[in-house]
Amino acid sequence: MFSTRFLDLPPLVSASGTVRLPGSKSISNRLLLLAGLSEGTTTIHALLASDDTQVMLDALRTLGCSVVLEGEAVRITGLGGRLVAVQADLFLGNSGTSTRSLSAALAVLGATQGGRFTIRGVPRMHERPIGDLVDALRGLGCPIDYAGNDGFPPLRLGDGAVHTLRLDAPIRVRGNVSSQFATGLLQALCLVAIEQDVVIEVVGELISKPYVEITLNLLARFGVAVRNDGWARFTIPAGSRLRAPGDVHVEGDASSASYFIALGAIAASREAPLRIEGMGAQSIQGDLRFVEAAQAMGAHVVLGDRWTEVSRGRWPLQAITLDCNHIPDAAMTLAVMALYTTGTTRLTNIASWRVKETDRLKAMATELRKCGASVCEGADFIEINPPLAWQAAVIHTYDDHRVAMCFSLAAFNAMAGSQPDTAPHALPHGVPVRVLDPHCVAKTFPDYFETLFGVASARLQDIPVITVDGPTASGKGTLASAVAKALGYHFLDSGAVYRATALAAMRVGARADDEQHLAQLAGHLDLHFTGTAILLSGQDVTETLRLEEVGALASRISAWPLVRAALRTLQVSFHRLPGLVADGRDMGTVIFPGARLKVFLTANAATRAERRHKQLISKGIPANIDSLRAELELRDERDQTRAVSPLKPAADAMLLDNSALTIEASVDAVLKAWEQRRPFG
Ligand code: DC
Repeated sequence: MFSTRFLDLPPLVSASGTVRLPGSKSISNRLLLLAGLSEGTTTIHALLASDDTQVMLDALRTLGCSVVLEGEAVRITGLGGRLVAVQADLFLGNSGTSTRSLSAALAVLGATQGGRFTIRGVPRMHERPIGDLVDALRGLGCPIDYAGNDGFPPLRLGDGAVHTLRLDAPIRVRGNVSSQFATGLLQALCLVAIEQDVVIEVVGELISKPYVEITLNLLARFGVAVRNDGWARFTIPAGSRLRAPGDVHVEGDASSASYFIALGAIAASREAPLRIEGMGAQSIQGDLRFVEAAQAMGAHVVLGDRWTEVSRGRWPLQAITLDCNHIPDAAMTLAVMALYTTGTTRLTNIASWRVKETDRLKAMATELRKCGASVCEGADFIEINPPLAWQAAVIHTYDDHRVAMCFSLAAFNAMAGSQPDTAPHALPHGVPVRVLDPHCVAKTFPDYFETLFGVASARLQDIPVITVDGPTASGKGTLASAVAKALGYHFLDSGAVYRATALAAMRVGARADDEQHLAQLAGHLDLHFTGTAILLSGQDVTETLRLEEVGALASRISAWPLVRAALRTLQVSFHRLPGLVADGRDMGTVIFPGARLKVFLTANAATRAERRHKQLISKGIPANIDSLRAELELRDERDQTRAVSPLKPAADAMLLDNSALTIEASVDAVLKAWEQRRPFG
């Protein structure tokens, strides 16, 4: 997951391959709640691992359910409708499904069994309406207080006393703000439909019906067959009991699929379509119908039972006018697809956007305009005209996973306005897109960007590289890895590649002057960087590589041209999306001559010897500062005077002497220089 402050997406120009979707959020959270309320044990497979499901799992544990993780599965033994904990304070983050469902269930259980609960969330959760649900529950006889503002969480549910609920008359709930209120009531009232039928009546139009359909479908899996009279009246039959269904499998998230369906429609060819696994014609999620909308815009889609393949059909995409009430979440993806049309796209009946993770109507209008689109934002619709000139946009994400995910699709802007068969190299330059706080995708799709980078491609020259070269012990490794971390880029410690070759040579007793043998070892290195460790032939050599004798041999063997040539491909393979920071001796001069920013880092010999000394002593390795200094001066001399790739600053390098700088100050200086080279204004 990217935990950086921002993530820059270079211009992207094609997509192909296979994506495995994370589990459906809607299904995961409903299954968790129903498993937690029901009698018996439910084993849930392929549960979504995300912020929203985590808060629900934590809540179930707090309420006394047994929750056992078994490999990829979660085993939950439910309460069987009987409270174990009669008091609890639950924090539910920014999860609307958890908040609405648990509020309803705990209001009913608390009232009938003398419980007392508090439900709260992040500040935005306290701005999302819940009044219609509270009104319906109070009408039943459940004691509920608002602990903050009327109509919004936090809520206090139950007063510790036992109450009799009024179940003989229909329970009325408004349906036009959030369908989660109806879902919450349906799940909760199954617990009390014992002696009589319980009827829920929806007042006004029920929005987002497909989400209620998921609820009905899953209730049936738990043994409760609700009668649905035209989405206006639901009857839970007397004698209903939630019973654990045993093993259940969560299908892939159809809303998450929308980004990849759009991706295929924009950037995958018919010969190499984008394959999405985990969602297909068998899906019970309403957002499956996003497929129809994407087709209307031009996507070519083949639907299997549990997979979907998408490629470009019509290009440019076709602007559409669509009532999106049935696909409110996935409709955000259509708004970004609209950027690749030549007309006006109008998405209507989406007033619910205003009460989601953020005011999505306002957010989408604002961010689409930043890309260069002209946008008209209405009370319950949005109208989008594609940009005449694309801008390098800094996308604010409002702690809304869907804003972050759908705007990643704006990175394909080089393709906008192109002929259908233009080859990537013949496309215009395109502009990068900066996504602020990319970690917000963790709400439903923690690995979203990694998954995107697994199937999207950019032209190599568009993937940024920052090089940090300099003499030994100048601190370039520390600097480069910190810069990589701040930007979410890959990191190449090329010194480790030479050191690993030296270590391999020591292990087989190769001579330091046997260029052929050394080059052959270099060409067959079984070397892996895991992010935290360096593995040579499967063995962790992270510490061994830092030994002085390994560094000294690396310096000697790195003078051989054949060795350098043999290690080139391995180093170049690090040049991948979304970008690279590489440190070494010849990163800016030889390996990545086209790097956007080249830093040449130095520090005087005394300072470097001191740093190396400290480093060794702190690891309990005895060292002498004078001989260290003599050794590194000798090494500088050798690295600078060798015939191939000698250590020297690239002509266009930024020279940075960090003798008197802290690490933070050096990192800041490099990030500042980087920012000046970016087009984000
Ligand atoms: O950066 P370092 O001390 O880990 O590098 C060890 C040796 O590897 C160094 O003395 C020279 C060689 N090297 C090189 O020649 N080219 C690079 N890009 C990186 C390291």
